[in-house]
Amino acid sequence: MPYELAVEELTVKFRHMMKEYQDMGMYSPIEQVKGRVKRSSSIIDKAYRKNIPLATCKLEEAMDDIAGIRIICQFVDDIKEVVEIIRGRSDMKVIREQDYITNRKRSGYRSYHITIEYEVETIHGRMRLPVEIQIRTLAMNFWAVIEHSLQYKYQGELPEHIHERILKAADAVLSLDEEMSSIRDEVMDAQHIFQDKANMVENILHILEKIHNLMTEEEYQRIYNKFFQIYKTGDMLELADFNANISQLDELLQQRKTKQDEEKKIGEKRTAGEKKIEEKKTEEKKAEEKTMERESQDAASRNI
Ligand code: GTP
Ligand code: MG
Repeated sequence: MPYELAVEELTVKFRHMMKEYQDMGMYSPIEQVKGRVKRSSSIIDKAYRKNIPLATCKLEEAMDDIAGIRIICQFVDDIKEVVEIIRGRSDMKVIREQDYITNRKRSGYRSYHITIEYEVETIHGRMRLPVEIQIRTLAMNFWAVIEHSLQYKYQGELPEHIHERILKAADAVLSLDEEMSSIRDEVMDAQHIFQDKANMVENILHILEKIHNLMTEEEYQRIYNKFFQIYKTGDMLELADFNANISQLDELLQQRKTKQDEEKKIGEKRTAGEKKIEEKKTEEKKAEEKTMERESQDAASRNI
């Protein structure tokens, strides 16, 4: 199923972007990534609704959301960033953009849709497939999921009083997103700090593991306890100091180890060399003794 491959590949790619931001200690404009392939029953429903003959060989042209990716962001501003990322990708060709954020749908639905063409490589060769990417905030997603369930429950015919309430909820979601946008910088700072802290702790633990064998147990325990104390207080400056110091210590210990290893090698070489010389000497001595013995024997026999 080439659509499945497209969805899986794209999901991995977007999730990896989140990881790249995290690894650099940066705020990620992507909060969650989900993917799905439209189920056969939904394909049939949509074909029927839109008068698309199912037998057409151009089904993917007529139905460009068989493969779907949903990207959830924390803030409305993050959506723009994600759109820019997609526009800049060489493996995703944008074929259509629908901005239901600036122009929300009559239902109250808000989201940014981008249809891309994405190439997959299967055992039957290369295929270019359309994929619909929906980008929305957590709040927009919350609304869309609830509204979708209601539509499903009432089979697309929402009773008037429910319709009114869902429109009110859409307004509430809009103002929630606006409110959140105004505190985005603050939230981003907090997340930055959290990420920095996580990265530092990861680095410290990694070094602690590395240097364990290079020092006495008491020394190691002392350093470990110090780290634990600082970690408990949560003081970022102290943690940063500790991180810098332990990185330096790690470097020194590694240098010392390399030097010791080199010295050991030289020592081994030397003893091997000395052994050889000694062996040679003993051989020479033995040969000398033999000659002397022979000479004295000769002399003795001559004297007899
Ligand atoms: P459909 O895919 O059948 O909706 O037709 P379309 O491609 O012409 O519509 P559009 O591009 O506007 O919407 C595509 C997708 O966006 C849908 O499959 C839904 O996932 C989502 N969507 C659009 N409008 C709504 C809405 O009013 N409510 C909810 N919950 N989701 C919507
Ligand atoms: Mg569509």
